[in-house]
Amino acid sequence: MKEHYILGIESSCDETSAAVLMNTTELSNVIATQTTIHQYFGGVVPELASRAHQQKIIPVVDDALKKAGIAKNDLSAISFTRGPGLAGALHVGVSFAKSMAYALNIPMMEVNHMQGHVLAHFIQQKNEFQPPPEFPFLCLTVSGGHTQIVLVEDFLKMTIIGETIDDAAGEAFDKSAKILGLPYPGGPLIDAYAAKGQPVFKFTHPQIAGYNYSFSGLKTQFLYFINEQVKKNENFVEENLNDICASIQKVIIDVLMAKLMKASADTGISQLAIAGGVSANSGLRNALLSLQSQNQAKVFIPPFKYCTDNAAMIAVAGYYKFLNHQFASLNVEPLARMPF
Ligand code: KG4
Ligand code: ZN
Repeated sequence: MKEHYILGIESSCDETSAAVLMNTTELSNVIATQTTIHQYFGGVVPELASRAHQQKIIPVVDDALKKAGIAKNDLSAISFTRGPGLAGALHVGVSFAKSMAYALNIPMMEVNHMQGHVLAHFIQQKNEFQPPPEFPFLCLTVSGGHTQIVLVEDFLKMTIIGETIDDAAGEAFDKSAKILGLPYPGGPLIDAYAAKGQPVFKFTHPQIAGYNYSFSGLKTQFLYFINEQVKKNENFVEENLNDICASIQKVIIDVLMAKLMKASADTGISQLAIAGGVSANSGLRNALLSLQSQNQAKVFIPPFKYCTDNAAMIAVAGYYKFLNHQFASLNVEPLARMPF
């Protein structure tokens, strides 16, 4: 097979990332996170994110090329996140990709960030082949901004069959963490505390039709529950943090899994994948693994480094577009809201 070197660029939120793939094999995947910049504000501040991307993009791309052991003239094409995401943050990556592709006179491919998350399952490691999912499969894509059940029929043929009508699963984690006074992003912290607790506090599931989700009611239910308990005992959160985290994590995962299982039963598709930042959650990973051990599904769980935002997933999605000659024009603009 001919060797193509694809540079991927991701700047949709608070990670500046550049990766080089040789076809689908990762040669480098450099990620500069901005967590410390935004933590003080309790969430991502768009203007600060754009500025940090501007500062980081050149060193990050340079580092990705060095780690891959190739020169920029070896690149076959450049793949970049066009959207969805923060407009200013996307602008940095899109403008950079356009200038670099123009200067090198190579094609470029625009990638939908959410499709990138799904296609992360096809990234290969050097010297270690991981069998990817076969088509068709269902992918539960859960991030800070999205919650989707995606029917994936081919690399470039996927349809959203269910999604959140309000908050995303990542937001449900982060907002619950905020209610508990934990710093942003709270998802990984809830995961860590939950591992030491038991889900003793019960919450009701939202009742939403079809494969859609809703998490905003759960957040309100959680807020009222905590306020009620704190009225009775002002140390309630400190004294029960592990159990509280285990309880909110359990209900979020149960809700996510119930719709995924319903979609699997209705479509007859038993290859199930997860993707996006929340797929790093150990409770969700274990819920999928237990399905597999009961022979209810064949599951695909990405390595941690491909769960949260990274450019390798943008490069692999771009690679399939490259093979299909689906190139972007130099007039391409970022799209904060991008159709799937
Ligand atoms: O995909 P991602 O890196 O960025 C977006 O595209 O949004 O997802 C970030 C989200 C955040 O809400 C973060 O709290 C959540 O993923 N997250 C987790 C875990 N790791 C990241 N949520 C629960 N458990 C985790 N271990
Ligand atoms: Zn993401």
